Amino acid sequence: MITLEHIAMEYTPGQPILKDVSLTLERGSFHFLTGASGAGKSTLLSLLSLQGRATTGKFHMFGENVTNMTREQLPKLRRRIGIVLQDYRLLDHLTVLENVSLPLKVAGEADAEITPKALELLEWIGLSEHQNAKPPTLSGGQKQRAAIARAVITKPDILLADEPTGNLDTELAQRFMYLFEALNQTGTTVLIASHDENLISLFDYPTLRLKNGALVKKSSTIEDLSSFNEIIS
Ligand SMILES: Nc1ncnc2c1ncn2[C@@H]1O[C@H](COP(=O)(O)OP(=O)(O)OP(=O)(O)O)[C@@H](O)[C@H]1O
Ligand SMILES: [Mg+2]
Repeated sequence: MITLEHIAMEYTPGQPILKDVSLTLERGSFHFLTGASGAGKSTLLSLLSLQGRATTGKFHMFGENVTNMTREQLPKLRRRIGIVLQDYRLLDHLTVLENVSLPLKVAGEADAEITPKALELLEWIGLSEHQNAKPPTLSGGQKQRAAIARAVITKPDILLADEPTGNLDTELAQRFMYLFEALNQTGTTVLIASHDENLISLFDYPTLRLKNGALVKKSSTIEDLSSFNEIIS
């Protein structure tokens, strides 16, 4: 469903952040994306969410060749993607309810259909009391929950989430992981960037690790042990 072949990306010419990233995300798959701070996780998610562009390489999504698309062709694909950005990007002049409702409004749904859905989701994530609050008055974790609700309300074909549980306590983080799993079970492809090795280890999903501008397979504990054995033998 999504394939990247030998992708490179840079912010400053000649200084690639991603050097050679190849990746296939099958439809309905669930992956974690990990790697050190600064490794390029958010950069890769900006590419996959059609915000950043690659300097070289091939990128296919939903059967389309994204590499050759014009700017005007991208919004149609973007509407099929749910994204939780690391800095949330909620609209400060809208209420929580309006922020969460926005993607369905943009998709042309009637208010009468949108509001009950948005309210139900706010209830589930524990933000009902804050439905009329504006984002600047919310805590970090509350903003994060609103951003997640906005990303999942459309039941997107793919959910890209950048450290979506970084501001949540363990119990809430797990609750949201179950939300992502439930969405995945309805067919959504899920990719979650996270530093949180503890959280990742609680779930049995493949992990993609960014290192030196490329994806490496996560070494298992057994491999770690065998290389340790080699060192000490
Ligand atoms: N808009 C930008 N302009 C220039 N350089 C950038 C920009 N965004 C990111 N970078 C650089 O690209 C590199 C990768 O950043 P990125 O945000 O993708 O890392 P990350 O893996 O998401 O890190 P973290 O775990 O801290 O969120 C960093 O060296 C960063 O300084
Ligand atoms: Mg990041």
